[in-house]
Amino acid sequence: MATISRMPIFLFIFVILIFMSQSNAQPSFLFHFCIDSNGNYTANSTYQNNLNTLLSNLSSNTQIDYGFYNFSYGQDSDKVNAIGLCRGDVKPVDCRSCLNDSRVLLTQLCPNQKEAIGWYDHCMLRYSNRSIFNRMETSPGFTMHNRENNVTNVEQFNEVLRKLLDSLISSASSGNSQRKFAAANATGPGFQTIYGLVQCTPDLSELDCNSCLVGAMPQIPICCDSKKGGRVIRPSCNFRYEVYRFYDPNNVAMPQAPAPAPTVVALHPSSTDSLSAKAENGVEIRSNETLQLDFTAIMAATNNFSDANKLGQGGFGSVYKGRLSNGQEVAVKRLSGNSMQGDMEFKNEVLLVAKLQHRNLVKLLGFCLERKERILVYEFVPNKSLDFLIFDQTKRAQLNWERRYKIIGGIARGLLYLHEDSRLRIIHRDLKASNILLDAEMNPKISDFGMARLFEIDQTQGNTSRIVGTYGYMAPEYVIHGQFSAKSDVFSFGVLVLEILSGQKICGVRQGDNIEDLLTCAWRKWREGAATSIVDPTITDGSRNEIMRCIHIALLCVQENVSDRPNMASVVLMLNSYSVTLPLPSQPAFFIDSRSLSVIQSEEYDQEETRSGESNFQSA
Ligand SMILES: *[C@@H]1O[C@H](CO)[C@@H](O)[C@H](O)[C@H]1NC(C)=O
Ligand SMILES: *[C@@H]1O[C@H](CO)[C@@H](O)[C@H](O)[C@H]1NC(C)=O
Ligand SMILES: *[C@@H]1O[C@H](CO)[C@@H](O)[C@H](O)[C@H]1NC(C)=O
Ligand SMILES: *[C@@H]1O[C@H](CO)[C@@H](O)[C@H](O)[C@H]1NC(C)=O
Ligand SMILES: *[C@@H]1O[C@H](CO)[C@@H](O)[C@H](O)[C@H]1NC(C)=O
Ligand SMILES: *[C@@H]1O[C@H](CO)[C@@H](O)[C@H](O)[C@H]1NC(C)=O
Ligand SMILES: *[C@@H]1O[C@H](CO)[C@@H](O)[C@H](O)[C@H]1NC(C)=O
Ligand SMILES: *[C@@H]1O[C@H](CO)[C@@H](O)[C@H](O)[C@H]1NC(C)=O
Ligand SMILES: *[C@@H]1O[C@H](CO)[C@@H](O)[C@H](O)[C@H]1NC(C)=O
Ligand SMILES: *[C@@H]1O[C@H](CO)[C@@H](O)[C@H](O)[C@H]1NC(C)=O
Ligand SMILES: *[C@@H]1O[C@H](CO)[C@@H](O)[C@H](O)[C@H]1NC(C)=O
Ligand SMILES: *[C@@H]1O[C@H](CO)[C@@H](O)[C@H](O)[C@H]1NC(C)=O
Repeated sequence: MATISRMPIFLFIFVILIFMSQSNAQPSFLFHFCIDSNGNYTANSTYQNNLNTLLSNLSSNTQIDYGFYNFSYGQDSDKVNAIGLCRGDVKPVDCRSCLNDSRVLLTQLCPNQKEAIGWYDHCMLRYSNRSIFNRMETSPGFTMHNRENNVTNVEQFNEVLRKLLDSLISSASSGNSQRKFAAANATGPGFQTIYGLVQCTPDLSELDCNSCLVGAMPQIPICCDSKKGGRVIRPSCNFRYEVYRFYDPNNVAMPQAPAPAPTVVALHPSSTDSLSAKAENGVEIRSNETLQLDFTAIMAATNNFSDANKLGQGGFGSVYKGRLSNGQEVAVKRLSGNSMQGDMEFKNEVLLVAKLQHRNLVKLLGFCLERKERILVYEFVPNKSLDFLIFDQTKRAQLNWERRYKIIGGIARGLLYLHEDSRLRIIHRDLKASNILLDAEMNPKISDFGMARLFEIDQTQGNTSRIVGTYGYMAPEYVIHGQFSAKSDVFSFGVLVLEILSGQKICGVRQGDNIEDLLTCAWRKWREGAATSIVDPTITDGSRNEIMRCIHIALLCVQENVSDRPNMASVVLMLNSYSVTLPLPSQPAFFIDSRSLSVIQSEEYDQEETRSGESNFQSA
């Protein structure tokens, strides 16, 4: 029905359909898009085989009973990702049959395209070679309206409809990771019942689901003004309303009572479909407005930035714990210091940083730009930061080797994502134990990434006069010459790994009467063949080989010569595969000597950031 050839066109396609009657014996797609911009596959190619395998697996899955499938199959460039979503009231058996029909039809209608999407009444199926999970996508989309009858009392009808959809949107958004769906009825003018249904793919966050649906609302006057039925349908969310019952009320869990007050997360959708903006590289950028939060809402969430809510103070400002009116706990970072950046640039940077989503990164949920305030709102990560555990004599016993190893692996993957997988190629520049937060399952999440972007510090590899970092973790070339690169993060990672292994801070390891820095100590012991003696004695589990390998990898990361250090991709590989032979490390950079120390002090660097282990947010 529609083939989209270039990304920029694909962005703004919004097709308007008219549907006549809901009885349709021979089901066909409501609509579909074959998307050319992601390339074609050839007949009998690996990609095609993977696609077929994946789609038959997906549509025959009997384990999932909540109507959402996010599966992928294949390797590297032949990897296929697919999402199947059934309307929330559709029974599992009907869901499978709808997805099976979609599978057959969509691959026929789009015989070459690597990416395609199609909708039936009861389900949506989409696939692509790019990653499509856990992200809000608002196009390609389309709208439909019922042309049979016009509404007589339009104003009243719209008022009831708006309230109905508002309450459905808030209850669907707050659904769980299996189901973000709500349906209900309301009484319109002349005692006519209006039925509404809204749904998001449940892999979206609450905020994304809300943004997607709220962003779709302005389509109603355009597509469906004074019509008795309408739908707005997007890849990540859709809604529909009618004056007849079109869903099965027996499979609709009661929507939760709508919030009495409007949600604190005040979104400001613009009147046009601002949500469909995308950067030219195809990364979806959420609208500059959808992540924007009200200052009053932030005040309310943090008790007016009360001291009781304060979690910590970092180099870029204070951090407060907050609770939005919808109950969500957040960490609110009130930025201090003056960035030279204009508001527009700040917004753009926030939107880019918010696109960085990885399970080992703290998620940026929104921002506020009002009354000269610049505020960032993050997900709240409950288990404090790593420094609270590893440097605490008693608490560190909670961290056995298995946990520490998992934390090291998670940090490595998060950092790899920042360096290579995220398209933005972010250099963290201040990786340290207090910037690693732990969630309830003790998964590590890197915080404070992207701050250099937000403070308009030059981004690309190069020289900088403003050094942002923490003494002890900073690579010597960065401290002394202001030269930074992904390899300076690798250095900090190596330091961090040694700290995790030893439970000692970088700057002070007691060796008899002497205080030696951790790198010097680790290197000396390594040379003496006694490397395991630096390991925290509370670690009693774990294989000696695995621990030795981690020390070895850490020493590779802290080598003085930048080009000798591995990149994060190699680090992740070395951590995961024992068949990779590790090169011998050369001497690490020792920078605790008077020569470099005097250089450090003459550099312009941020005082607040220079003491390790205490400046952190979310760690009260
Ligand atoms: C992909 O195949 C379609 C036909 O199915 C064709 O129209 C289109 O030009 C092809 N695109 C590329 C990039 O080869
Ligand atoms: C693909 O494989 C089928 C059966 O294996 C064969 O009949 C068909 O000719 C092949 N098509 C191409 C383009 O190779
Ligand atoms: C689908 O794939 C999963 C794992 O990839 C496998 O466990 C399952 O058996 C497959 N199901 C079918 C029906 O092929
Ligand atoms: C899926 O569709 C194919 C082709 O229409 C059909 O042969 C097959 O029986 C269907 N499978 C299921 C489980 O419905
Ligand atoms: C998808 O395939 C196209 C064409 O082969 C390619 O240009 C693109 O990089 C692929 N995308 C991903 C994420 O692999
Ligand atoms: C409904 O209203 C539109 C204009 O808004 C008009 O063109 C159309 O004829 C009306 N249809 C009916 C059935 O009254
Ligand atoms: C409207 O929904 C309520 C449940 O919320 C249900 O009890 C009632 O029967 C529905 N009304 C109609 C006319 O379907
Ligand atoms: C699939 O979706 C669920 C949420 O419904 C999410 O927890 C999970 O991480 C997703 N899987 C992938 C591979 O993204
Ligand atoms: C949002 O971005 C668009 C285009 O980038 C711009 O025209 C618009 O003014 C921005 N809105 C605000 C409120 O800054
Ligand atoms: C926060 O400040 C506003 C006025 O700025 C005041 O009305 C409100 O009561 C304060 N709330 C708290 C919890 O202190
Ligand atoms: C934090 O970690 C501990 C294990 O050390 C765990 O028992 C607890 O559930 C975690 N979550 C919170 C919120 O403390
Ligand atoms: C950075 O500064 C050093 C001297 O300190 C110089 O040799 C080098 O070329 C500079 N690099 C860049 C990218 O400007």
